[in-house]
Amino acid sequence: MTNPNARFHVSSHPAVLHKLAILRDEDTEPKKFREVVRELSWLLGYEALADARVRPRSITTPMESMEASELGERIGLIPILRAGLGMVDAMLELMPTAQVWHLGLFRDERTLRPVEYYNKLPDSATVDLCLILDPMLATGGSATAAIDVLKRWGAVRIKLVNLIAAPEGVAAVQAAHPDVEILCAALDRGLNARGYIMPGLGDAGDRQFGTGHSD
Ligand code: PRP
Ligand code: URA
Repeated sequence: MTNPNARFHVSSHPAVLHKLAILRDEDTEPKKFREVVRELSWLLGYEALADARVRPRSITTPMESMEASELGERIGLIPILRAGLGMVDAMLELMPTAQVWHLGLFRDERTLRPVEYYNKLPDSATVDLCLILDPMLATGGSATAAIDVLKRWGAVRIKLVNLIAAPEGVAAVQAAHPDVEILCAALDRGLNARGYIMPGLGDAGDRQFGTGHSD
């Protein structure tokens, strides 16, 4: 069961709901699917930054000088390969100075356990806030493994940004890492016997990159 007191946020914005319907629809082709992943990522990234620190910046408008603000946090974006790649560009538009570190994890189809195959983190953590990007939070195995890696590496503040989450995945992450805030666009009903989110959207990587099985 998800813990209602924990740091968990589901967006209920009408624009998010509208785009989610397009994303879930089986008739949505990869090109449109990638566009909507990007648009939803922008909206979720906006929410993920809601409590980010800003610092003063002196500027001059055409009218006069003023103290404006700029993002004061060093941000690291950690897309989980492959599916998290589609979320990066929108986040970089919002946070142009963010660094991007790729982490490759795939889920073993039989055991549903994550397997790490690529890690491009620098030697030590040099940012204030890490945003893990992955469209799907299913069993929570991949997200938990990614957070383990980031914490061992020295990350202190971590947020997990997903498009669709299952209650099982949210509960698993909350149990292992209660300090990590989870933001998503939808909390679905649960997992099926193969560990897929229901009603979900199918395989987020396959749908973005057109690699689904042709039956
Ligand atoms: C998907 C998804 C997550 C993971 C979620 O990746 O993008 O990383 O499954 O499942 P979990 O919560 O049960 O771990 P997948 O392993 O299909 O790899 P891909 O992105 O390369 O398609
Ligand atoms: N990974 C996906 O891409 N989709 C799911 O429903 C579960 C895991």
